[in-house]
Amino acid sequence: MSYVVVSNLTKSFDKTPVFANINFTIEKGEFITLLGPSGCGKSTLLRCIAGLNSVDDGRIMVEGQEITDLPPQKRGIGMVFQAYALFPNMTARENIAFGLKIKGEDKDTIARKVKEVIEIVELQGREDHLIDELSGGQRQRVALARALVTRPRILFLDEPLSALDAKIRKRLRYLIRQIQKEMGLTTIFVTHDQEEAMVMSDRIFLMNKGAIVQSGTPDEVYTHPQSEFAAGFMGNYNIIDEAASREYFGLSGTVKSAVRPEAIFINHPAAGVDCVDKTMEGVITFKQLLGNVMRYAVKTGDQDISVDVLNSHAEQYAEGQQVKLYFSADEINELRA
Ligand SMILES: Nc1ncnc2c1ncn2[C@@H]1O[C@H](COP(=O)(O)OP(=O)(O)OP(=O)(O)O)[C@@H](O)[C@H]1O
Ligand SMILES: [Mg+2]
Repeated sequence: MSYVVVSNLTKSFDKTPVFANINFTIEKGEFITLLGPSGCGKSTLLRCIAGLNSVDDGRIMVEGQEITDLPPQKRGIGMVFQAYALFPNMTARENIAFGLKIKGEDKDTIARKVKEVIEIVELQGREDHLIDELSGGQRQRVALARALVTRPRILFLDEPLSALDAKIRKRLRYLIRQIQKEMGLTTIFVTHDQEEAMVMSDRIFLMNKGAIVQSGTPDEVYTHPQSEFAAGFMGNYNIIDEAASREYFGLSGTVKSAVRPEAIFINHPAAGVDCVDKTMEGVITFKQLLGNVMRYAVKTGDQDISVDVLNSHAEQYAEGQQVKLYFSADEINELRA
């Protein structure tokens, strides 16, 4: 049996449903990211599993034990939120020690455990400062340490990095992932940042409007989106309409398809790429240097197609130039509605 098993979880506020019949399993030590737009139900799903919100229906099992009706503190779940929820009138060390004191652990044990996690989250030298005297990144380290010190079975992180600037965010991403791997800690991380989900996760659960619409490794979800929503959320996908998908890609019926801009080639396919006659004629309407790639907009019949070419020794094309586009056959994703 999987380490975490969630079955048919259903939740509404008053009569407004947030999600219905959510099902998933998580293995021990996995790092899972709930990725989706604002309001899709990510935080509510975490809060329900943690016992901070009640559920209307469904079951939550951890290590074979049902926890659906246990109080939050009996579930063995550690949580870190976007807003720090730390005690401002206490030092970092006192904040971290708080949960252990409540549990009635003895002084020496608390001191040892707290010292250990302060080292893990790299807060040495700041531990005796008040929360107000710490930077945003340091406060999130305190919040993380406070969750880790109780040795939770599962760690929940709800947008812990959202309020931080880009550089600190990247540093903490790395630190969190490193700690999680070293401790083998089963983790559910919430974000609406696609890149963050890609770099951190073992698997991504992509959510939209209260449903997990696709799940898989970052590579699977990014390279093979199954819906227009997933294609739109995961990257700069080109959505090819039904008629063009039939005519150019030989797809049957009425399905749209999605192709990544970097999986299309101008005038000649990359070596080793199978394009088996999947081509379109078009004209370059404009080009844009994005730094590492040159992005071309190509008009082909009714379709406007984006093509990204790596900006290194690449042949350049001019606006107004007639071109032929080659589509890699296994990069054409049929979409469900
Ligand atoms: N306590 C509450 N009472 C009523 N409705 C709520 C409550 N908490 C959340 N909701 C509603 O449930 C839906 C899901 O909210 P939730 O906070 O889970 O979304 P989210 O995916 O975490 O969004 P964000 O990325 O903005 O944090 C929203 O429509 C929200 O308004
Ligand atoms: Mg949220």
